[in-house]
Amino acid sequence: MKRVRLSDTLTIAPVAVGTMNLMTWGLDAKGLVERIYEYIDLGLTTFDLADIYGSGECEKLFGEALKLEPGLRDQIEIISKGCIVYDQPRRPWFVTESYNLSKDYLLTACNRSLERLGIDSLDLWLLHRPCPLMDPVEVAEALEQLRAEGKVKNFGLSNFLPEQVAALEAYTDIPFVTNQIQMSVKCMDFLADGSQEDALRRKMPLMAYSPACGGKLFRKDLSKDDLATVQVLEEIRQELGAETLDEVLYAWLYRLPVTVVPVTGTGRKDRVLRAVKALDLKMSREQWYDILRIARPPHVSKKYHDI
Ligand SMILES: NC(=O)c1ccc[n+]([C@@H]2O[C@H](COP(=O)([O-])OP(=O)(O)OC[C@H]3O[C@@H](n4cnc5c(N)ncnc54)[C@H](OP(=O)(O)O)[C@@H]3O)[C@@H](O)[C@H]2O)c1
Repeated sequence: MKRVRLSDTLTIAPVAVGTMNLMTWGLDAKGLVERIYEYIDLGLTTFDLADIYGSGECEKLFGEALKLEPGLRDQIEIISKGCIVYDQPRRPWFVTESYNLSKDYLLTACNRSLERLGIDSLDLWLLHRPCPLMDPVEVAEALEQLRAEGKVKNFGLSNFLPEQVAALEAYTDIPFVTNQIQMSVKCMDFLADGSQEDALRRKMPLMAYSPACGGKLFRKDLSKDDLATVQVLEEIRQELGAETLDEVLYAWLYRLPVTVVPVTGTGRKDRVLRAVKALDLKMSREQWYDILRIARPPHVSKKYHDI
């Protein structure tokens, strides 16, 4: 499997395993060690975490797995994120209170992630969300301190618009190696907000979260619009000779000119593997446009002159 280069010091698997729902996978630390090894055997060495997932419990469980199997850490790439503030004691599950990109908060958030994971450094740390109150001078100071302390090897962003990337960049020489954004057949904002063009200009791979539309197209009670989308996806699945609809969802993202690394959310290995299988599918321009036409929201149509 061809790996994706993010920087001189970091390459990642072409599909990243997301852990937002790790606490629902029914694994204890030992089971997680086994699952991680299964993924490693498949070339899937990249794991996406965040301090807020499971209100810190996901990082904690991942850390317990790493502790059980000390050799594991060096065989994988660990990504985490910080800056979303949540009120853990009051609300035990993930609830967004606000975003905080002040220097103190960022340093504390990153240090806490490292503590929960029981590791010395993260391969990649993402600023989880942009914030209207973020002071780029403070952000730069925090990131530079974390880099100097060796706690973060590479930095990236998440949910940042191109102008927000550029604003931060003006204050630091630290390169942002990726932007993790929502990209799927049901979330096409990246086509309208300049994210794809910005990534192309920077020669920066994008990480696509919720690439299988958060499971929304697999429900039984589909809306009329979603049903129409699924019908088109099903026709294209047959044309491509793909086994499942999810493969078509991933192939639609891989057809883009920008390098896209999907971050899967499923707890099932067989479903993660569909993102890998889809790397070999060759979606035609016509098939890609058929999906765009059936699923695009109005703001995406406008950007491309109602194609
Ligand atoms: N940066 C950010 O702001 C941000 C935001 C959200 C998520 N993320 C990252 O992205 C990852 C993925 O996000 P996501 O969970 O929304 O991604 P997703 O892969 O689009 O959705 C996963 C959900 O879809 C269901 N699903 C997938 N394939 C299915 C199928 N064939 N049939 C039925 N259900 C199916 C899964 O259920 P099963 O588990 O039962 O398969 C799961 O509930 C997260 O784990 C996290 O690491 C990042």
